[in-house]
Amino acid sequence: MSRAQTLPKAPAHVDTPENEFARAVIAGLSKEKKTLPCRYFYDARGSELFEDITRLPEYYPTRTETQILRDHAADIVGEIGDGELLVEFGSGSSLKTEILLDRIASSIAYVPIDVSQTALADAKRRLTKRYPELDVRPIEADFSRAIALPADLASRRKTGFFPGSTIGNLAPSDAQSLLSIFGRALGEGSRLIIGVDLKKDPRVLIEAYDDAEGVTAAFNLNLLHRINRELGGDFDEQGFRHRALYDPAKGRVEMHLVSARNQRVAICGRSFRFRENETIHTENSYKYTLDQFRDVARASGWNAKRVWTDANKQFSVHELIWPKTGRDIG
Ligand code: TRP
Repeated sequence: MSRAQTLPKAPAHVDTPENEFARAVIAGLSKEKKTLPCRYFYDARGSELFEDITRLPEYYPTRTETQILRDHAADIVGEIGDGELLVEFGSGSSLKTEILLDRIASSIAYVPIDVSQTALADAKRRLTKRYPELDVRPIEADFSRAIALPADLASRRKTGFFPGSTIGNLAPSDAQSLLSIFGRALGEGSRLIIGVDLKKDPRVLIEAYDDAEGVTAAFNLNLLHRINRELGGDFDEQGFRHRALYDPAKGRVEMHLVSARNQRVAICGRSFRFRENETIHTENSYKYTLDQFRDVARASGWNAKRVWTDANKQFSVHELIWPKTGRDIG
């Protein structure tokens, strides 16, 4: 369906980022049930809006996870000793990392992995000032692809850090594959500290993804701006509305952009038709029970060791060990 030779700029065999973005957008909008790839949310404006989301009163995950990390920081970092490596997948601003770094007395290296070069540079500058002893070694990469850690650090004992319930943005089977990728990247005897949002009253969930101020709506709609800007699209922002819903059977919040009317949109020399109320599915956020997440972790090869939650059981932080020893607890 998507023929790469109709795309602008580069020929089909050249994997430029624009080409990859264009191909993903065309493929998604060509489907019976239209989708857009969520990893393109985070351009400069998108990253800014996401930071705003994390401060919204309705968006409990960031606040709650931060509190869990603060309350249990000593426990969580407990075993990190001299010369070890802290690897963060999708580090963004590295703000939560400071809660752990404040508690780590030993001299360690920190490897933040992120697609945003500016976020990495800002974080490195801030962290190096705050922790002069810390060896910060950023990697500009998409953490969902195989990642090579710096060769000179490869033999060190490693702790992975994956906060924010980003794992929930993948379907459970894909989450399982990603956890295996992390395990293989970190190696035997490594730990993973991972934040996972929990199932709860659907009204609380929906509000967290459809705030009164409309920041999440702006974040979702920003994807259309990005397509217009980078792929020469002609989406009319007024023509689409943000919608969040909870599907209890799938255990996930879904984010959609709903077409306000019948309309056509041109992208890369193609025309896409939208019926009134037709939706573009842009993102999922899966919610787990503690046991459901442990099952996914174990199926991926990790051993579920400890878990911390807040008093209201809104959010969880799990400690996993690689490889699975066959002597699982629980
Ligand atoms: N990992 C975050 C979450 O699922 C990402 C997120 C928050 C998000 N709000 C969003 C993604 C709105 C898309 C749209 O909670």
